Amino acid sequence: MKITVTSASGVEAVTKKEIRKLGYGDAPSINGAITFDADLSAVSRCNMFLRTADRVYITLKEFTAVTFDELFDGVYSIPFEDYFEKDACVLVDGKCVKSVLFATTASQKIIKKAISKRLCEKYKVSYLAETGTQYKVEFSIFKDRVMINLNTSGQGLHKRGYRDFVAKAPIKETLASAMLMLSDFSYSEEFFDPFCGSGTFVIEGAMQALKIAPGKFRDFDYQNFAFIDKKYYQTALEEALDNEDLTKKLNFHGADIDKKAIDLAVRHAKNAKLDGKIRFNVADIKDFSSKNANGAIVTNPPYGDRILDKKEVLELYKTFGKVVKNLDNWSVYLITPEEEFEKAFGRRADKNRKLYNSNKECRFYEFFRKTPIKFNKTKEQL
Ligand SMILES: C[S@@+](CC[C@H](N)C(=O)[O-])C[C@H]1O[C@@H](n2cnc3c(N)ncnc32)[C@H](O)[C@@H]1O
Repeated sequence: MKITVTSASGVEAVTKKEIRKLGYGDAPSINGAITFDADLSAVSRCNMFLRTADRVYITLKEFTAVTFDELFDGVYSIPFEDYFEKDACVLVDGKCVKSVLFATTASQKIIKKAISKRLCEKYKVSYLAETGTQYKVEFSIFKDRVMINLNTSGQGLHKRGYRDFVAKAPIKETLASAMLMLSDFSYSEEFFDPFCGSGTFVIEGAMQALKIAPGKFRDFDYQNFAFIDKKYYQTALEEALDNEDLTKKLNFHGADIDKKAIDLAVRHAKNAKLDGKIRFNVADIKDFSSKNANGAIVTNPPYGDRILDKKEVLELYKTFGKVVKNLDNWSVYLITPEEEFEKAFGRRADKNRKLYNSNKECRFYEFFRKTPIKFNKTKEQL
């Protein structure tokens, strides 16, 4: 079958690498979606192990349509009875982009009608009770190419299950994980998030370092699907537990000026079963120093429009830059939309790329170490 994995704009290349590492080849990424051939175990494994993906879908069909008749016929030809029971409750949602069929609501109605007609005919009923398992069918019509997908994840995969309350301006776990993968942080040295808020980077970093699967603490919609045997979830969970390496000693910590945020970070670390493995404390960035020559910072500092005003935020970046200057062989990775960031920080980034944080266009700045550390990142971390 065809599996489609979606991820946020700017993150696709990292997700592709993760998919390749799971053993599903080098699939192209088109419009934020990566589609590849695999068997049903890919549904459970991708949901369990992908740290940067948004959702995992079974692609039921792909075809071209420029009229509602073509759309109806294309959808009607899908053997929905192989997937949905007689009492299934099928929800349809989606989007039309750069296509002749540009009306999303009308397309949604046509698709729902075609599914209902097919199921009524196959089950020989005049209407569908829709009292049973919920199935979310998502369509995308992009440049007249229709994709009909079944959402197997349910809620977005950034919902890991450990973050039950949110602090101010939290970053999505999937984006934090992608930033960590783009960085050179290592389990064998100090890792620090000076603006840790609810603890996302430190927790995601520790989960990567200890090989704790991101899907370990949550459920997925496919677990309720009658056509997917329960063994698939069980096998993926067993693989996840086998992979874990909880014996590593970490020097990973986060700090925040806000006590409430630190209380949340501690709570979330506990939820992720990381208490005792990582640390959080209330502190101002201006007071940070380290006795370790090597280390990495990956962070999401305040932005001018969210927590502090622009002047305060640039002042904070200036302080951050001075603190980092006193660190020996450390790297710094951070995301911000502030165009004057580098000027305030007092250093030009070695590299920067566009990334979106909650739909806000940002830049991901990378400041390398003086001497790169020697470790094989793909082997050690991912
Ligand atoms: C954008 S939020 C970080 C959110 C975090 N990544 C998360 O996922 O929850 C920025 C954080 O910086 C903290 N902060 C602001 N000024 C600070 C300072 N001078 N020193 C340390 N933390 C500060 C704020 O309290 C806030 O929690």
